[in-house]
Amino acid sequence: MRIVLLGGAGYIGAVATRHLAALGHHVTVVDGLIYHRDDDPRRLLPDAETFVRADLRDPLALRRAVTGADAVVHLGGLVGEPACAVDERLAVELNYASPIIAAEAATAADVPHYVFFSSCSVYGSRDGTVDEDTAPNPLGIYARTKVLAERRLAGMLEGTALTVLRLATVHGRSPRQRLDSVVNRMTAQAIATGRIPLNGGAQRRPLVHVTDVAEILALMLNAPGGHRTFNLGSDRENFTIAEIAETVQTAVPTSRIDRGPERDEADARDYRTSFARLATAFPDACTTRLSQGVREIADAMDAKELGDPDLPEYDNFRGLTASRNAGRITAVRSLACERLHAEYAAADWSTQ
Ligand SMILES: NC(=O)c1ccc[n+]([C@@H]2O[C@H](COP(=O)([O-])OP(=O)(O)OC[C@H]3O[C@@H](n4cnc5c(N)ncnc54)[C@H](O)[C@@H]3O)[C@@H](O)[C@H]2O)c1
Repeated sequence: MRIVLLGGAGYIGAVATRHLAALGHHVTVVDGLIYHRDDDPRRLLPDAETFVRADLRDPLALRRAVTGADAVVHLGGLVGEPACAVDERLAVELNYASPIIAAEAATAADVPHYVFFSSCSVYGSRDGTVDEDTAPNPLGIYARTKVLAERRLAGMLEGTALTVLRLATVHGRSPRQRLDSVVNRMTAQAIATGRIPLNGGAQRRPLVHVTDVAEILALMLNAPGGHRTFNLGSDRENFTIAEIAETVQTAVPTSRIDRGPERDEADARDYRTSFARLATAFPDACTTRLSQGVREIADAMDAKELGDPDLPEYDNFRGLTASRNAGRITAVRSLACERLHAEYAAADWSTQ
């Protein structure tokens, strides 16, 4: 199969490229390397057949890249509320405009299957258990751009199958390592400083290992079907933040949990997620445990394969701030982006 990974040089994309290539697929990665971390695509993505450095907001570049593909996977974008809050216009262009422009390119090129990477963050804060039929409750820019992109893609893709994957928070080792999400960050801090920062603790967070994400993507690509949405994770891996900290502390016994405020004012997400739909379709999916991801990061830190977790290269908020301050990434205000900005601004959130 010819698969185009948009944003495929990132944390998940680098693992997905390796996995899909090992299964014999022809993988093209399109990525602008927007964090300018001096990533060498040949080292990062040795298994990609083709690497194209391009901006995922550029309709012509996307049209060229997706022509002849059997599937297009959109993993580009700004991940998480802190990075999106740096510049809302930019976040809307990367997280909302880009997937729509890519879908327009995919339909024009008759690509049969489009996969969109969304997030369980769309559920925001909810009592009880959320599943794919629960109305989204987006609490910030990141979640709103994902919800709107999902909605718009579902309305515009007719002859193309659409798979929306709402990911749990991802952990584990990748050639393009991020250390800014909860498990990886706590583990790296435990090794680097001997302290595990914990704000709040009672909020629940579903987790998934990065190789499980790559495996599920491969299964989905082999079995496209209509328009479908899956929460990507497993029921066994719904933890509170405090439980995650305790797991890290057990793996790194020399560290101690450093309790901050009772509530994490910066991140109000709190939900228990049902992954029953995924488990029914793929019973062997997502079996890697939290402790495995913790072990991988701890071992890589111990072996000095990873450095100071506060470096911008491991952190999208810091990396984006550095890139933006240097003028290397800005809102482009192209015709396509202006049109999609207007849609975002006009979105009605009262019906959520
Ligand atoms: N990692 C997680 O915990 C997690 C959780 C839920 C959802 N997701 C979703 O999965 C997807 C991949 O996440 P990730 O952790 O690999 O992120 P990442 O930041 O590591 O990778 C994103 C990649 O997209 C590229 N990119 C972004 N905008 C671009 C543009 N306009 N032009 C060219 N390249 C561009 C970046 O250079 C980067 O390589 C995202 O859509 C994210 O929202 C991730």
